[in-house]
Amino acid sequence: MSQEKIDGQLFSYSGPAFHYLNEEERHFFAKEAPQFRVNVIGCGMIGMEHMRVATRVGRTAIHGVFDTNERSIKVAKEEYAKESSSELVVYSSLEDACNDPAVDGILICTPNYTHLDVLKTVIKSGKHIFMEKPMATKLQDAYEITQMAKDYGAVLQIGLQYRYKSIYAEAIHEVLERKAIGQVKMINLLEHRIPFLDKVGQWNKFNQYSGGTLVEKCCHYFDLMNLFAQSRPVRVHATGSQSTNFRNFEFKGAKSDILDSAFVTVEYENGVRAGFNLCMFAPMFHEEIVICGDEGRVKAAEIEDFSESARLRTEMEVFCGQNRPSKRSEPMYPKLIEDSGHNGATWFEHIAFADRMAGKETDSATMEDGFWSVVVGTAAQEAIRTGKVIDINAMLKEANIPL
Ligand SMILES: NC(=O)c1ccc[n+]([C@@H]2O[C@H](COP(=O)([O-])OP(=O)(O)OC[C@H]3O[C@@H](n4cnc5c(N)ncnc54)[C@H](O)[C@@H]3O)[C@@H](O)[C@H]2O)c1
Repeated sequence: MSQEKIDGQLFSYSGPAFHYLNEEERHFFAKEAPQFRVNVIGCGMIGMEHMRVATRVGRTAIHGVFDTNERSIKVAKEEYAKESSSELVVYSSLEDACNDPAVDGILICTPNYTHLDVLKTVIKSGKHIFMEKPMATKLQDAYEITQMAKDYGAVLQIGLQYRYKSIYAEAIHEVLERKAIGQVKMINLLEHRIPFLDKVGQWNKFNQYSGGTLVEKCCHYFDLMNLFAQSRPVRVHATGSQSTNFRNFEFKGAKSDILDSAFVTVEYENGVRAGFNLCMFAPMFHEEIVICGDEGRVKAAEIEDFSESARLRTEMEVFCGQNRPSKRSEPMYPKLIEDSGHNGATWFEHIAFADRMAGKETDSATMEDGFWSVVVGTAAQEAIRTGKVIDINAMLKEANIPL
């Protein structure tokens, strides 16, 4: 599978039927050489997704990997061989992976608690950097990263790619660009899904390593919430618990302590109110956003229910009453894009990363957006831990983070 260029337009085709053609006979299916080469640090679940998606998009070639776990490297090599005939370089140290002059960029795909330390080494390379979300497990670390990003002379992109899921991309278009519902007043987000998956070292079962469920997983939704509110959060209320999942789970003598369900309310400086509802013991993946403005309401959902006939189901309604036309739709990408990872979001994240490496501006999340998504997640974790309403300014002040 490759990304093909036809007279200026991008076109992707996955069928094997045209492999009999020699390179010189290709015009419609002519392949462009990748513009960039990158190394992947941490080739677990999302590292492999980046390797697959980057290769399929075709603008960025995967050069090599560094991982502290031999099995991850073995499996990543096997998976990569399904996508590309190129040899993957395996580095024996992070420094070697960062300083190889053959590469333009580094993708940091290690667990949350390692991000700051890994970044401290990677940033010395001066290369373009893509870093997975959440930027850190602690507020101070996240702030330190935003400070490092400020003076950095190359791209530093954060992996908040849900903005590119078809339902959110369309909601952004309707609400923020087209202003179809007028001024945003209320935002509701919901994620109901299966429990956290297994990870190398089971880092996502422990608040200490993940930052807590509302930071680890839900920073995506708080990023969307912040984006649609177009304002800074000021107060966070939350309730939640480890009601069902991993209650008896132990790994290397430590007991899991992560939340699996929560209700979070966020108040914004501009008066917008937002709510988030999480359930991680639902037999499906279901995400939903409802945004009410003073001239209408947008609702969008993405549902994977694991039924036999399943293809990703999406639905969207834009209701504008007597103000302008209303509509219902099913936002989608071509199946080969949706199937490549995170329902197509990672595909467009890679296009944005390549565009940014090429010096173009994109609509990808900024490091500041990454920071504010961690701020809301941390405040929500803290509200649940203490049973108190969290004042964001007070929380930042206590963490010695200048406002
Ligand atoms: N953007 C998204 O939608 C999305 C989805 C999944 C995961 N993530 C994020 O990606 C990161 C990795 O998650 P994952 O699901 O791939 O975890 P994983 O456990 O499947 O893989 C992590 C890999 O990193 C390796 N590793 C650990 N410490 C390392 C180090 N110091 N140096 C090099 N390699 C190291 C592990 O051996 C493992 O192979 C996390 O920050 C997670 O939150 C983002």
